[in-house]
Amino acid sequence: MENFIFSFAISILLLSSFTLSLNSATDKYALISFKNSITSDPDSVLSTNWSQNTSVCNWIGVSCGLKHGRVTALNLSGYNLVGTVAPHLGNITFLKYLDISSNSFAGILPFELSKLHRLKVINVGMNSFTGEIPTWLGSLSQLEELYLYNNSFLEILALEIIASQIPPNIWKCKYLERLSLSYNNFIGNIPPEIGRLRVLTELYLGHVNGFQGGIPAEIGNLSRLEILYIDHASLTGDIPSSIFNISSLRILSFVLNSLTGQFPSNIWKCKHLGNLGLDFNNLSGNIPPTIQNASMLRELYLAYNHFTGELPREIGTLPMLESFIFLQI
Ligand SMILES: *[C@@H]1O[C@H](CO)[C@@H](O)[C@H](O)[C@H]1NC(C)=O
Ligand SMILES: *[C@@H]1O[C@H](CO)[C@@H](O)[C@H](O)[C@H]1NC(C)=O
Ligand SMILES: *[C@@H]1O[C@H](CO)[C@@H](O)[C@H](O)[C@H]1NC(C)=O
Ligand SMILES: *[C@@H]1O[C@H](CO)[C@@H](O)[C@H](O)[C@H]1NC(C)=O
Ligand SMILES: *[C@@H]1O[C@H](CO)[C@@H](O)[C@H](O)[C@H]1NC(C)=O
Ligand SMILES: *[C@@H]1O[C@H](CO)[C@@H](O)[C@H](O)[C@H]1NC(C)=O
Ligand SMILES: *[C@@H]1O[C@H](CO)[C@@H](O)[C@H](O)[C@H]1NC(C)=O
Ligand SMILES: *[C@@H]1O[C@H](CO)[C@@H](O)[C@H](O)[C@H]1NC(C)=O
Ligand SMILES: *[C@@H]1O[C@H](CO)[C@@H](O)[C@H](O)[C@H]1NC(C)=O
Repeated sequence: MENFIFSFAISILLLSSFTLSLNSATDKYALISFKNSITSDPDSVLSTNWSQNTSVCNWIGVSCGLKHGRVTALNLSGYNLVGTVAPHLGNITFLKYLDISSNSFAGILPFELSKLHRLKVINVGMNSFTGEIPTWLGSLSQLEELYLYNNSFLEILALEIIASQIPPNIWKCKYLERLSLSYNNFIGNIPPEIGRLRVLTELYLGHVNGFQGGIPAEIGNLSRLEILYIDHASLTGDIPSSIFNISSLRILSFVLNSLTGQFPSNIWKCKHLGNLGLDFNNLSGNIPPTIQNASMLRELYLAYNHFTGELPREIGTLPMLESFIFLQI
């Protein structure tokens, strides 16, 4: 009996190490396929370092889990790589961190990446990706950081190239803490579903061509938001007062839009606001004296609007203020 249990245990051990090495082989094959779809590697990073003779865990940019030896991170940021992303990457099922930012990857983000359910961070910023922003991103339920900035995500509809819409699915990633979609081409509104990202702390939607409409009041539901950039984005309408309900805000920039209405009088609720940029809009009315209660303000940019009246003396009492620009048109 003991013998039986012993050999049973041994065979389980053998079996599990066999599957482990099989899975490691899958990782290796996936990474080699990834390397093979890179057409230019000017610094010879992969061509010299990713040697078939060594374990993938020793390859530059690759990290493995200590226990299982599977690949958990791929970070090849800033190596000037040119090429496309091989769909085989979707087989590295233990991958948590994927950073291929600041290269020249083109083409689409392959659908196979939707199999990477453990992904926490995706950074593909500063590349030349095209195609729609994939809807499958919404199925990556563990995602905490998503960076798609500086790409050319487009939607190609019947020979007509139009800009992409932000897919409503992104809002399903309920653990998302940081989201950057800056420097892309979008059409349509900022979807109100954005208010569902309850743990979001940083949101970058600036330098986007083609946004229509205004800032959704639902952004005020993002109660943990610290950094909000929606600059250079041709937005119209008022600044929703719900935004100043977010007491954690530190940086807020709506620079270069076509926002109208008054300076938000409840700004004093943002106790941690250090940087407020509203220049180059169409705001009007007075600057309210309640601004003195936003006592952490260090940088305040209000230039090129239609503000009128006297500047409240209270601005002079802001203890941290370093930079204040108010030139009106
Ligand atoms: C690849 O790079 C890593 C990290 O820089 C280094 O430890 C390793 O020795 C290199 N391997 C080869 C074959 O050059
Ligand atoms: C890798 O191994 C093969 C055969 O085992 C050998 O011929 C080759 O020189 C090795 N390459 C490197 C870079 O070590
Ligand atoms: C990748 O490496 C860069 C440079 O070392 C670093 O700034 C970045 O945070 C890394 N990305 C991830 C996801 O760890
Ligand atoms: C990995 O992915 C590719 C393409 O998505 C596929 O052809 C291949 O069979 C997959 N499986 C393994 C074990 O490599
Ligand atoms: C994005 O690209 C533009 C030019 O296309 C550049 O000016 C800008 O600095 C880039 N943004 C980031 C975040 O690197
Ligand atoms: C989110 O914000 C909107 C508008 O400010 C509000 O009407 C809505 O009730 C909020 N939703 C939740 C779930 O708090
Ligand atoms: C701000 O928050 C308070 C308390 O949660 C709520 O009653 C109020 O309606 C909110 N104001 C706006 C403009 O959303
Ligand atoms: C800005 O406001 C002025 C009047 O205050 C108006 O004539 C102009 O059309 C507005 N511009 C935009 C872009 O909303
Ligand atoms: C703003 O600060 C002043 C002076 O510190 C205080 O008297 C006043 O009650 C504050 N107002 C609000 C709305 O917090």
